[in-house]
Amino acid sequence: MSESRAQFATRLGVIATTVGSAVGLGNVWRFPFEAGANGGGAFLLIDIFFVFVIGIPVICAEFIIGRHTGLNVRGAFRLLAPGKAWGGIGYLGILASILILSFYSVVAGWTLEYIFQSLTSFGGVDSVDGLHNQFDTFAASNWRPLMWTIIFLLFNYLIIARGVQKGIEKMSNIMMPLFFLILIVFCINSLRMPGAKEGLDFLFKPDFSKVTPKVALSAMGQAFFSLSLGLGCLITYSSYFSKQTPLVKTAGIMASLDTLVAIMAGVVIFPAVFTFGMEPAAGPKLVFEILPSIFMHMSGGMIWSTLFFLLLFLASLSSTISMSEITIAYMTDEFKFSRRKASITNTVTAIILGSLCALSFGALSDWTICGKTVFGLFDYVSSNILLPLGGMLISIFVGWVLNSKVVKSELSPKGSRVPMWVVKAIVFCLRFVAPTCIALVFLYGLGLFSF
Ligand code: TRP
Repeated sequence: MSESRAQFATRLGVIATTVGSAVGLGNVWRFPFEAGANGGGAFLLIDIFFVFVIGIPVICAEFIIGRHTGLNVRGAFRLLAPGKAWGGIGYLGILASILILSFYSVVAGWTLEYIFQSLTSFGGVDSVDGLHNQFDTFAASNWRPLMWTIIFLLFNYLIIARGVQKGIEKMSNIMMPLFFLILIVFCINSLRMPGAKEGLDFLFKPDFSKVTPKVALSAMGQAFFSLSLGLGCLITYSSYFSKQTPLVKTAGIMASLDTLVAIMAGVVIFPAVFTFGMEPAAGPKLVFEILPSIFMHMSGGMIWSTLFFLLLFLASLSSTISMSEITIAYMTDEFKFSRRKASITNTVTAIILGSLCALSFGALSDWTICGKTVFGLFDYVSSNILLPLGGMLISIFVGWVLNSKVVKSELSPKGSRVPMWVVKAIVFCLRFVAPTCIALVFLYGLGLFSF
């Protein structure tokens, strides 16, 4: 491991940046619309199952690889398994991270538009229907979503070009706690709405008749997406961890907080969905149609709305810098690019692909493959296929190929209080549970196999 490699400065910084990577649009935007389209309670339950049974062990697996090698995804696998096909995981991660960055920036761009609209109280529109229509008007303009996607990526550039500690860590330390607090306020507000009971029933009462292989696949994709898992994002971040960072504890805190934030977002959204008589299965625009109605019905709505979208924008930024770091670490480690040059390459690629995604809700809405727009396709392929596939390969690699002494000493280094049974349980999940679960969900969910 090179001596000069950057490291996160403090323990709090490690938590704030990993949680900052995990918490973002995945929780506030993607979770509610996926849960809404996949039956609510049952989806949440399966999601939680995947987070704890597959998620935490695979987070640990990424941490082990990253901290042990101190390298980017591609470099890490080349060092650990020279000349073997395992290196392919690195390329898979880099491809997926670019696809995700592209469509993610579009939604992050929507938050910028909504900060702007909040400042003018949505142009004075106050009827629920009028507020719901705002999104369609915005998407149909084409140039506005495009402009915001590019502006968002330029913000992202400004931070990634400055490097690990200065940019990423400082922002996350302040933003994450604030985001959490404001979500609590909105939960309380939604719980007082007339549709609260119906909303909570939808979210928390599983209706098992709705569980299909497709629902399980979507819940697995959601768990991976939300935990930033499966493409080496956490390998890259943990390459900046110090030897003192406790891996198991960090993984546990990260997974728990991330899931908590998704549930809180659900508690904010679903009571409002039923109060305003909307369709929970409205798809990607669901959250953007509902939030303005929630805020504009609160006293001081303009301020709450602006603050919320501002924080959501920052939360998205802490996630996109973690995606970008994958390609940047790769280019700087492997090709000796300067940080600036790597950041520019990353940004330009994302602007080109992101533009196609941005127009998917307007001019390019008829460009479909298998019934999905470019935006929908990037999301589906990366979240439901590439991430779980990457996660499966990473767990097999750490469970079966990597020297078990390395695994033990990373998870439970000398002097640490991590009991041996925890290490054993994690290794067991990595060897048997995670690969089998992922393979089964794949075979059934993609319709490759059925009873
Ligand atoms: N987890 C983030 C969110 O929920 C998105 C994200 C950041 C991500 N880095 C990632 C998803 C790496 C997959 C892989 O918003």
